[in-house]
Amino acid sequence: MSGDIQSKTATEKILIANQVYASYPLFDLVLADIDQCHHSPKTKGDDDPDCLLLVGQTGSGKTTILKTYLESYPKRDAEDGTIVPVIYTVIPPPASVKGLVTKMLEELGDPLYEKGNTIAQTIRLYKLLKNCEVELIILDEFHHFIDSESNKVLVTLCDWLKSLIINTKIPVILFGLPVSEKVLKVDNSQLSRRFNHRHRLVPFPRTDDGLELFREFLSEIEGQLPLTEKSNLSEKSLSERIYYATDGTIGHVMTLIRKGATYAIKHDSMCIDLDILHTIYWKHLKHEKLFKKTDPFLEDKFDLEASYAQDKESTENQSYSNKKRKKNSASDINKMLTT
Ligand SMILES: Nc1ncnc2c1ncn2[C@@H]1O[C@H](COP(=O)(O)OP(=O)(O)O)[C@@H](O)[C@H]1O
Ligand SMILES: [Mg+2]
Repeated sequence: MSGDIQSKTATEKILIANQVYASYPLFDLVLADIDQCHHSPKTKGDDDPDCLLLVGQTGSGKTTILKTYLESYPKRDAEDGTIVPVIYTVIPPPASVKGLVTKMLEELGDPLYEKGNTIAQTIRLYKLLKNCEVELIILDEFHHFIDSESNKVLVTLCDWLKSLIINTKIPVILFGLPVSEKVLKVDNSQLSRRFNHRHRLVPFPRTDDGLELFREFLSEIEGQLPLTEKSNLSEKSLSERIYYATDGTIGHVMTLIRKGATYAIKHDSMCIDLDILHTIYWKHLKHEKLFKKTDPFLEDKFDLEASYAQDKESTENQSYSNKKRKKNSASDINKMLTT
């Protein structure tokens, strides 16, 4: 952070803290792959655009990747209308062809986006995609292609998407939860083979290399924080505490850091210290954990592997006592029945 922090108001600093972001190898790889798909109609010279599916749990950073990509391709006004190089639509639940085509028409500025049946709307969409010179279609929340009540893949939507790609020859990028992979497995409308680029966004791995990358990420983020002193987030012990508290999931990491920085700014603290991390962990992250973790920000010393080993042990003990309780209640019932 440059030396002009002092001149900023607390509100300005909080805004900066909430917008810090950094890349990491998988982030760069996915961006490069999206770019390759985007330009595949020109580089491949055939009518079969490359398409991509990116899956990851909530908070793994999917939307951030696509928003970063979109920044390079903003809408712009031309003489005879708006040019939209990349159209981004969040698939609305419950998903239907009507819902999706309406959303896309709205995104492209059709004043009558809701009007007409799906065939008429789809014809208008094809025309608008051409007129707005759309080169890439990005659809977020692809798991909505699975009906949440029946758990079945919505085949009509898959067919509609396949026709969209065939008719417009525009590459499509899909983002969704890991369950989205089921859509391309179940669907036999040849949608799957078009999605020849696939990625899974996973948390930073708990390996030497993974933890090293994690520390680099923390260091890059810390460099942008509008705080007076260094918090040393990437220092080995502190980075491992943060890793343990978040399991290396980027959404949780950023909650700790952004809320930690906001807290520090509001309470005139020079940096994010262990006390602040402890407060934020309890307030915003502890409820996320299914099993009891020891608070990594309380202890004087912290050992990452020992902490994970302890978790494993307590989870095993817990499931053993649950099983025992079940067995006991079954034998209690048997006793009642035989007496
Ligand atoms: N590369 C990154 N740098 C900083 N913050 C990030 C990064 N990727 C994700 N985040 C933050 O993590 C949180 C979850 O990310 P998001 O992209 O919404 O995940 P998803 O779409 O997979 O649920 C958001 O607050 C986002 O700002
Ligand atoms: Mg998202």
